[in-house]
Amino acid sequence: MSTPHIEAAAGAFAETVLLPGDPLRARHIAQTFLQQVEQVTAVRNMLGFTGFYKGQRVSVMGSGMGIPSSAIYATELLRHYAVKRLLRVGTCGGVAADIALGDIVLALGASTDSRYNRLQFADQDFAATADFGLLRRVVTTGERLRVPLRVGGIFSADNFYGDDLGQVARLQRHGILGIEMESAGLYGLAAREGAQALSILSVSDHLQRAEKMSTSDREQGLDRMTALVLESLLD
Ligand code: HPA
Repeated sequence: MSTPHIEAAAGAFAETVLLPGDPLRARHIAQTFLQQVEQVTAVRNMLGFTGFYKGQRVSVMGSGMGIPSSAIYATELLRHYAVKRLLRVGTCGGVAADIALGDIVLALGASTDSRYNRLQFADQDFAATADFGLLRRVVTTGERLRVPLRVGGIFSADNFYGDDLGQVARLQRHGILGIEMESAGLYGLAAREGAQALSILSVSDHLQRAEKMSTSDREQGLDRMTALVLESLLD
């Protein structure tokens, strides 16, 4: 069986799929955290893997950057591969003044300048929110493992290199914690498809303070975050 962008056998994906933006991060997660790993798709080098974490079947696949790319993969996973849960594991830029590099943000809701949800919602405002059950699982696991978490609103931007000079102040004024490029679309899509979605984001840079993590710190931060997410999925 295949879809336009995924070439994998029926049943090749677990019901739960982790979605990093970078396909090489998907491979890293599979190799580092999963057992009995199989690569299940590689169309356009957007690698996908299925394996087991402490006995629980889980998949991980790259999504690319931005709502148009990530929504293509997410739609095909939900509609054609019987996937039920999507967990974006990615990075965000820090927006709130009290957010630090390396903080982990759980995206409770995602505001956006994308028209993706409006295209499906009669041009009205859809409240793009995380699945409460998934959010509660990660929060509870964070408390148990004493991993500090920030839960709140984020902003999914269509333009990484925008020149909207007032953007950071406006987002701060609205209590937004961080900025990335996928979650609003993922949440709207999951709602329409009757699936669960949650974005877990590691703060890799700060927009106001012009700070940026080193590559190795960023990778270690993503590993810690991925471990937390995988632990939270266990029954
Ligand atoms: N903007 C958008 N997406 C991001 C950023 C950013 O500054 N940092 C990490 N992902």
